[in-house]
Amino acid sequence: MIRTENLTKGFSKERGVFSLNLEVPKGMIYGFVGPNGAGKTTTIKILCGLLKPDTGKAFIGNLEVIPRNVPEIKKRIGYMPDMFGVYEQMSVWEYLDFYGAAYKIPSKKRKQRIEEVLKLTEATHMIDYQMTSLSRGMRQRIGLAKTLIHDPEVLILDEPAGGLDPTARIDMRNTISRLSDLGKTILLSSHILPELSSVCDIIGIIFKGKLLVQGTVKDITRDLQEKMVINVTVDSDLNTAKDILERIEHVENVRIADANQLQCTFSGTREQVKSVLKLMMNNGVVVRWFAENEADLEDVFMSVTQKKV
Ligand SMILES: Nc1ncnc2c1ncn2[C@@H]1O[C@H](COP(=O)(O)OP(=O)(O)OP(=O)(O)O)[C@@H](O)[C@H]1O
Ligand SMILES: [Mg+2]
Repeated sequence: MIRTENLTKGFSKERGVFSLNLEVPKGMIYGFVGPNGAGKTTTIKILCGLLKPDTGKAFIGNLEVIPRNVPEIKKRIGYMPDMFGVYEQMSVWEYLDFYGAAYKIPSKKRKQRIEEVLKLTEATHMIDYQMTSLSRGMRQRIGLAKTLIHDPEVLILDEPAGGLDPTARIDMRNTISRLSDLGKTILLSSHILPELSSVCDIIGIIFKGKLLVQGTVKDITRDLQEKMVINVTVDSDLNTAKDILERIEHVENVRIADANQLQCTFSGTREQVKSVLKLMMNNGVVVRWFAENEADLEDVFMSVTQKKV
């Protein structure tokens, strides 16, 4: 639904975006992660037709982002910039009505649509507030409501959680999940890493204008873990379980992690890991829980970007 092919926009040798191949399938939430200055906003602006690339192509659905297609693309996408101005003298209702009119929604339908988008963003109570009186979190919700007014199928949100406190970030994440449930394809950028893992289906990590990795959170973390860390909780004697675990091929560094929990590293393949559980059980260990320790997104990000540094 969102795609780029060797997209390049260079401001200088290391500043801009370079040969970016980004892909967001329909209905997915894509987390576009990277530190400040990595090239997120530049990519997003190109996708929205606001910035012309030097070379390469961008597509929204089957439409290439070129001036001729931009009016149609604008109908399909909802873009929320990282910073957006508001007309301070307007009330929330007037602000949304203004954008509804700009998108040529007939005046009769606009009232209903405004109610719908306010409900979606949990901002119904703000309908008569003055735009000037909104806090950062409120403003962000109204910004999202505005982005939804023409019911676009693709949402491109640049740092939607930027500047929000932890509770407001959770609210924003829940709203994004709800929008995804409505079938929207969503690309959102962030440098707040761990919060993306729970809401995004796919993550792309950009650093100095280059996409370093792209894939599901699970795949990325799995590929980057050189050795798996396994946690085993047992309901039988812990020391016996430890002895048995230590004798299994590819198992290393077995340690007692908790009253009934062992932790070890495993240097075999993903196929071979299955036999660890089997061997333990065959040797009489009562295993209550057997799990691979998930590296979080923060670890992945640090490992990917630091390798590059
Ligand atoms: N109009 C411009 N002229 C010159 N350089 C630019 C321009 N726009 C962006 N850049 C540079 O391109 C690089 C990428 O900027 P961009 O705004 O895309 O980063 P970002 O990933 O969105 O960062 P942030 O997390 O801070 O929003 C930066 O080095 C920036 O200084
Ligand atoms: Mg930015």
